[in-house]
Amino acid sequence: MEARNRPAVVIDNGTGYTKMGFAGNVEPAFIIPTVVATNETYVKSGGSVTSAQHSAGVMADLDFYIGDEATPRASSYNINYPIRHGQVDNWDSMERFWQQCIFNYLRCDPEDHFFLLTESPLTPPENREYMAEIMFETFNVPGLYIAVQAVLALAASDTSGKMELTGTVIDSGDGVTHVVPVVDGYVIGSSIKSIPIAGRDLTNFVQQLMRDRGEPVPPEDSLDAARRIKELYSYTCADIVKEYVKHDKEPSKYIKQWTGLNSRTRQPYSVDVGYERFLAPELYFAPEIYSSDFSTPLPEVVDKCIQSSPIDTRRALYNNIVLSGGSTLFKDFQRRLQRDIKKLVDTRIAASESLSRKDATFKTQAVDVNVVSHPMQRFAAWFGGSVMASLPDFYTSCHTRAEYEEIGPSICRSNRVFKGLT
Ligand SMILES: Nc1ncnc2c1ncn2[C@@H]1O[C@H](COP(=O)(O)OP(=O)(O)OP(=O)(O)O)[C@@H](O)[C@H]1O
Ligand SMILES: [Mg+2]
Repeated sequence: MEARNRPAVVIDNGTGYTKMGFAGNVEPAFIIPTVVATNETYVKSGGSVTSAQHSAGVMADLDFYIGDEATPRASSYNINYPIRHGQVDNWDSMERFWQQCIFNYLRCDPEDHFFLLTESPLTPPENREYMAEIMFETFNVPGLYIAVQAVLALAASDTSGKMELTGTVIDSGDGVTHVVPVVDGYVIGSSIKSIPIAGRDLTNFVQQLMRDRGEPVPPEDSLDAARRIKELYSYTCADIVKEYVKHDKEPSKYIKQWTGLNSRTRQPYSVDVGYERFLAPELYFAPEIYSSDFSTPLPEVVDKCIQSSPIDTRRALYNNIVLSGGSTLFKDFQRRLQRDIKKLVDTRIAASESLSRKDATFKTQAVDVNVVSHPMQRFAAWFGGSVMASLPDFYTSCHTRAEYEEIGPSICRSNRVFKGLT
């Protein structure tokens, strides 16, 4: 069977988690931490793997593990997180990681499938070329499409089926938060904003709060416990001062008990979960609580991003602000964002109206601010990839092996979705 008649492989590599599966499916087949554990002695012996070895499947026998199988080996293996803040930062590890994704998880022959991989919106062109090199030379894929995560997230939120890809995407995962304006499927590159606060920072913050309070969490389990607690109990509040008062008035209603298992002794331990429930998501709205280097609240960043986009696109960009990524799942996150962005917009409109009050004919049109929550938010980029790679023109949009062999990695240097760069 021709590769074009088989479903494409869709892999969204995130800083924290990799989502992988086949095009046409609603959910990824596997979600695993983006981590590689390599045997130190193998690395020190100067081990490197040729593509012939790859093809022969020899690499499968080498001493390394990925995902959930990697972390328990932290004591005797070298642990590496190949992606940092959304960008691949260790290509050797990344190659190993993909190797196992393909052969051990998806269990497919990469020569038989087209591949859709994702990239963060601020990826340097060289990274795209490295990605192409590994995919075409090591894995011999017949075709490759590198999609921008935010564009895929927009496709995932489109319930009309018309693929009208205009909107502002707020993608917040584990390692980075981006605000990306997209018009008719094209990214307005100059208006992308990124924020140095994402899921991992919120987890660290919860860990710190619990440590300061002296909760009895074993130190080696404290990060994982903080992550679980954050995912289970955190929510976005409307007003932080009022929330403190509510908690203090009725602690029994707001303080939760969480029971964990000591990973070494297997003994259960119990902790109280209090203010961190609303303080963790508050980092998006009052980042100065966490960092002295960055203090612009997310709603303001979104507003700035849209205001810096071409004037004729702004109304549509306010109208469809789409959420994507695990860290946008907090209860009422959408509501608070919508309220705060609307407040900024209304204040600006009121100011411009008061300036031009003398002119009786002047009336600013109201701007509709819509922050959209959707069922695919958690895996939005992956699901958008699954949808895109199922469209009939997907195969003609891919870079092919023949093209790669003729021209080389530079075929992937620019991404077509950045207008003016093609
Ligand atoms: N229900 C939830 N509530 C809040 N946070 C959650 C929830 N589920 C997952 N998360 C957080 O979302 C993050 C993972 O999200 P995601 O998989 O989108 O990130 P990623 O793609 O690995 O990272 P990035 O996009 O930054 O490179 C983790 O920090 C995780 O703790
Ligand atoms: Mg991501």
